[in-house]
Amino acid sequence: MCGIVGYIGNRDAYPIILNGLKRLEYRGYDSAGIALYDGTNIQLCKTKGKVSDLEKRVKKEIDTKGSLGIGHTRWATHGVPNDVNSHPQYSNSGNLVLIHNGIIENYATIKEELLKRGYTFSSETDTEVLVNLIEDVKKNENVKLGKAVQIALNQVVGAYAIALFDKNKPDEIVVAKLGSPLAIGIGDDEFFVASDASPFIEFTNNAIYLEDEEMAIIRKGREINVRKIKDDRSVDPYVQELEMNLEQIEKGGYEHFMLKEIFEQPSVIKDTYRGRLLANKGIIKLGGLENYIKKFTNADRIIIVACGTSWHAGLVAEYIFEDWARIPVEVEYASEFRYRNPIITEKDVVIAISQSGETADTLAAVKLAKEKGAFVYGICNVVGSTIPRETHSGTYTHAGPEIGVASTKAFTTQITVLTMIALKLAKIKGTIPYSDYMQHLRELELIPSKVEEALKANHKIEEIAEIFKGVNNFLYLGRGYNFPVALEGALKLKEISYIHAEGYPAAEMKHGPIALIDEHMPVVVIAVNSNHYDKVVSNIQEIKSRKGVIIAVVTKGDTVVKEIADYIMEVPNTEEALSPLVTTIPLQLLSYHIAVMLNRNVDQPRNLAKSVTVE
Ligand code: M6R
Repeated sequence: MCGIVGYIGNRDAYPIILNGLKRLEYRGYDSAGIALYDGTNIQLCKTKGKVSDLEKRVKKEIDTKGSLGIGHTRWATHGVPNDVNSHPQYSNSGNLVLIHNGIIENYATIKEELLKRGYTFSSETDTEVLVNLIEDVKKNENVKLGKAVQIALNQVVGAYAIALFDKNKPDEIVVAKLGSPLAIGIGDDEFFVASDASPFIEFTNNAIYLEDEEMAIIRKGREINVRKIKDDRSVDPYVQELEMNLEQIEKGGYEHFMLKEIFEQPSVIKDTYRGRLLANKGIIKLGGLENYIKKFTNADRIIIVACGTSWHAGLVAEYIFEDWARIPVEVEYASEFRYRNPIITEKDVVIAISQSGETADTLAAVKLAKEKGAFVYGICNVVGSTIPRETHSGTYTHAGPEIGVASTKAFTTQITVLTMIALKLAKIKGTIPYSDYMQHLRELELIPSKVEEALKANHKIEEIAEIFKGVNNFLYLGRGYNFPVALEGALKLKEISYIHAEGYPAAEMKHGPIALIDEHMPVVVIAVNSNHYDKVVSNIQEIKSRKGVIIAVVTKGDTVVKEIADYIMEVPNTEEALSPLVTTIPLQLLSYHIAVMLNRNVDQPRNLAKSVTVE
């Protein structure tokens, strides 16, 4: 996890790196550091805390001259978050300075060797071990920096995206990647390096995404030299044109990225289906799917692998695929799937869902499924990320950058893509009548306006949040399509407000959780129009008769639940299968407002990071 940034060119590196780190803070925010080089002196400053803490220290402690620099924002893996363990890390000679995102798994063995050779270590990090290994190779083999990096990395087991420079080479940065993302922005006589393209988007639209086991020697004013780490083969890199713009990665007047992203949902859901869903003509066209339809229609089953919110989107998809396309679906936590020797055959289709496209467990599940011969399809948001490159084919969600650690628009856009896939397959297989197919298409097209309407309840939900902000436990209940929404609502509340919340299928309540119900337990129940409506009403009665407090998500115009519930949050009517796209909105807003009222760091909740690129 961690974010890395680098710059080499003719401008002052400091503001570029500082801004870049602020944009990458979603990747980790327990410490930060920067190293600047003006050709004579290296200025290094690092601190426990956020990038804003680094900024304060830099002002007091170092000279910010230099048109070469590297910076890091950390999510600790080896060593507690403190000043010493922060990156950049120096080599013993003080000549090499390195930043690292990832984990060097065999660092202890390497460290032991280096200790025997007289190296000393001031931090507990695997990164300090790596920079000294590179120094050791450089000295002993008498090679240039690039070659030393290549030899050293061949001794390393683990994952990394690194950037480093040598005091003796003021015009060069070396970068390398395995398992962690690394993009190189190409400007005029200047280069940028970062974990994603956001730090350099206002400077250039051209970027190279390094592949795993590639490194690049970047020299000011020259071509980039990309090579394979294993055998030193030269690579002709693919320069990609970026779609992102600066506005997309700024808050746009909202207090938090999370709120901005919640309110973006009507437009990004539209972006997700734009050009792909032609409701009037009865057409769904997904570029990544067209050539592989048979893989899906002939599949024995679909296995969905994902983590967190993406896993919840997978659960919604299980209902839609089985209901409409009549294909058996299993939804797996990627972290369990990858380690439990699953039975996968060539007749399985595996769908990997990931906003970031970098989640380590999901990526490992993709690789495992490929090894076992399954066809693997990715549904990701971040263009050019690792999972889309590792899968056989896939669909981007086009939700734009999601910066808030709590996933919101990723969830609804993932469901939008999955719904389109299920509908397309259902039509081809003839598992739903054509009239139903057309009806679903038209309803999907209306979802952005319905989400817009659901968002209008924001103020009312804020008032409900005020009433419940002091509570320690919440229960979330839903049935059918809205059971995964209950799980997602509970996850949102937990992760940003630190209030304990549990999501449960409403009918399971009487098998245990009902014992928790008393007048102090708020129960959020999704009770919109559905086949299970009456049953959910009975569940609500069961809670009420035990003095539980009900906050219900209901369909506009509902009269029955309105009478029994203590508080209601209304959403517009839609088909049951599409209802998760609207019922999730009030739950996102409820968790957001409670977290704000509790003064939590909404966009960067404690202990979390946006993309979990470690196991
Ligand atoms: O980038 P991914 O979709 O693969 O991320 C998966 C989870 O880490 C992510 O959904 C996480 O649970 C969010 N913080 C939830 O809001």
